[in-house]
Amino acid sequence: MKLLTSVVAMVLARLSAGLVATAAAASPASPRCVMYLTGQHPVTPDAAQMARVSHVLLAFLPSDMFNGDAGDERTTWPLFTSVDDVRRRYPPGDADAAKVMVAIGGWGDTRGFSAAARSAASRRRFARNVARMVAATGADGIDVDWEYPGGNGEDYKQVPNGDKAWEVEAYPLLVAELRAALGPRKLLSAAVPGRPGDMLAFTRTTVPRIMNHVDFLNVMTYDLMNRRDNVTKHHTGLQDSIAGLDAYIQAGAAPQNLNLGFAFYTKWVKTEHASCLLASPPTHQKGSPIGCPTLLLEDPETGADLGRTGGFAWHDPVPEDLEASFARAKSLGRYDESGGGGYYYWDGEEDLWWTFDTPDAIARKFPAVVEEKKVGGVFAWGLGEDAPGFEHLAAVLRGLERHGAAAAGASKNEL
Ligand SMILES: *[C@@H]1O[C@H](CO)[C@@H](O)[C@H](O)[C@H]1NC(C)=O
Repeated sequence: MKLLTSVVAMVLARLSAGLVATAAAASPASPRCVMYLTGQHPVTPDAAQMARVSHVLLAFLPSDMFNGDAGDERTTWPLFTSVDDVRRRYPPGDADAAKVMVAIGGWGDTRGFSAAARSAASRRRFARNVARMVAATGADGIDVDWEYPGGNGEDYKQVPNGDKAWEVEAYPLLVAELRAALGPRKLLSAAVPGRPGDMLAFTRTTVPRIMNHVDFLNVMTYDLMNRRDNVTKHHTGLQDSIAGLDAYIQAGAAPQNLNLGFAFYTKWVKTEHASCLLASPPTHQKGSPIGCPTLLLEDPETGADLGRTGGFAWHDPVPEDLEASFARAKSLGRYDESGGGGYYYWDGEEDLWWTFDTPDAIARKFPAVVEEKKVGGVFAWGLGEDAPGFEHLAAVLRGLERHGAAAAGASKNEL
């Protein structure tokens, strides 16, 4: 952790020459800036922005890749890029300080984790293989993206949560085994659910045990509205983000070890017409846009996506059939102060609910969430998703600058 703190302090130091001494010396709150870099959008910003990204998490290697027995062990790790390649995207002076980690798992990837967590022997085997991968790739550590231990994952209609109840106890044991295999100097983090209903494995009993071994948790405070919902919500709303963080804090996590999650993509959802019109007239002058009924979004039997909700990254071309509606969402949408905080637009012409973070919505989360909750950093899914403009990343960096200055000011005042 010391190593980590000094790296973050260095990143912070370059934000403002005047703050170098105070920030580096005194601030326990030097914020982390963690970015997933995905195989779908493996694009990075210019070196000036890159220099301020403290951690890059390469997403993903599949969990099942680490379940091989001795003698049946893999020696190649098919990442879409290499740790060294990512380091080279930093200014030369920052390349060594940058933390490049490998994220394992991802949405829908649960079976390999279940197999890994099953017994003491399988946990040791998994951890040993992960440590071999870290040594071979030169990564600074790993991020565990098991979505989610205990259930409510993609397969929740096929495998009842009851069949996964044992994972709640096994998850902290797996994390402990990973720490033991990686040693104290490597970084270990985990992506964890942002919806309290999905936090089956994150209780007052387990969270303190998990926190003993991880450097930080990336709380996925996005997709907070998804196809399991039947009324409109902000997908990465301010109040719901606070609720997600609070759940971990109340379960025993130190805020300093939590990162707030940002989404660099949009979401849209098909809604009913008449009742949404009542809730949210096209003028958006009255009423709350929250709670208006959606169409049925997933098959109640199989959990299959019915194609009535979706999203796209800032880097993606806007799907043709959504172009007109998205243009309205961008020009006519507004920030919802009363319904939980979030940028939204309800398009009454096509009955589409739009929810996404704008640079302004991102900026508001720094005083209201990052500073209020005293979390240790932020992260986003994902870095290249924001290409080519990187305007949302810029908003995050401005927020961190403000936050770093505030933290430095606060510790100065304490002296
Ligand atoms: C909407 O979802 C909630 C749970 O989130 C459920 O209790 C309720 O019955 C659902 N309503 C309809 C109309 O399906």
